[in-house]
Amino acid sequence: MPIISPSILNADFTKLGEALQMLDESQADWIHLDVMDGSFVPNISFGIPVVEAARRSTKKPLDVHLMIVHPERFFVPFQKAGADHITFHFEATPYPLALLRQLKKIGVKAGIAINPSTDVRSLFTLLDEIDLIIVMSVYPGFGGQKLLEQTFERISALKKEIDKRGLSTLIEIDGGVIDKNADKLISAGADALVAGSFVFSAENPTATIESLKNVIAVNAS
Ligand code: DX5
Ligand code: ZN
Repeated sequence: MPIISPSILNADFTKLGEALQMLDESQADWIHLDVMDGSFVPNISFGIPVVEAARRSTKKPLDVHLMIVHPERFFVPFQKAGADHITFHFEATPYPLALLRQLKKIGVKAGIAINPSTDVRSLFTLLDEIDLIIVMSVYPGFGGQKLLEQTFERISALKKEIDKRGLSTLIEIDGGVIDKNADKLISAGADALVAGSFVFSAENPTATIESLKNVIAVNAS
């Protein structure tokens, strides 16, 4: 079964408590928190207080995705706020290896996210040190975009290398995940799926999470 990590980015923030409680009681494995700074991406979302609020609402792993410049400035504050996974962007630093090691040192899962325009092979030399790769399947900044077709081959290339080297690095797909592409993403080698608007625009978010959780891998064409 895939790991499902719903993103609260498109939740109704006047009812954030209810959204977090719904996720806590649902089959969601992780809770994905999209932090945007208006500089690395052309949008601002939320920051540390929202991660703290999520921490008070659930014991599930908090999957924090930092779309910010100089992410290392905020590793410790987000860890203290309750993050279990911290993922920074490969494009946001000249020193990805040093940053991965900083994350390990503070006791969180170390993640790297990669934009659609960056070659996934850029991560190959770092693979031993990465717990989690977020493959962006849209250009980051906004929820509700359509998944880019190139995503499937990007997943396969990463998965092939991870398997060849006997590593347990997880591949998480972020952006435009819906029921219609979930099975193909898993078949291509994804371990975890983020879903934002698909869950929060659904009439029944709990059932929508369940439907993603029960996706069965099919042969990718
Ligand atoms: C995009 C964010 C995603 C986004 C996913 O910049 O990183 O996590 O919220 O939302 P959907 O599922 O609506 O594409
Ligand atoms: Zn995200």
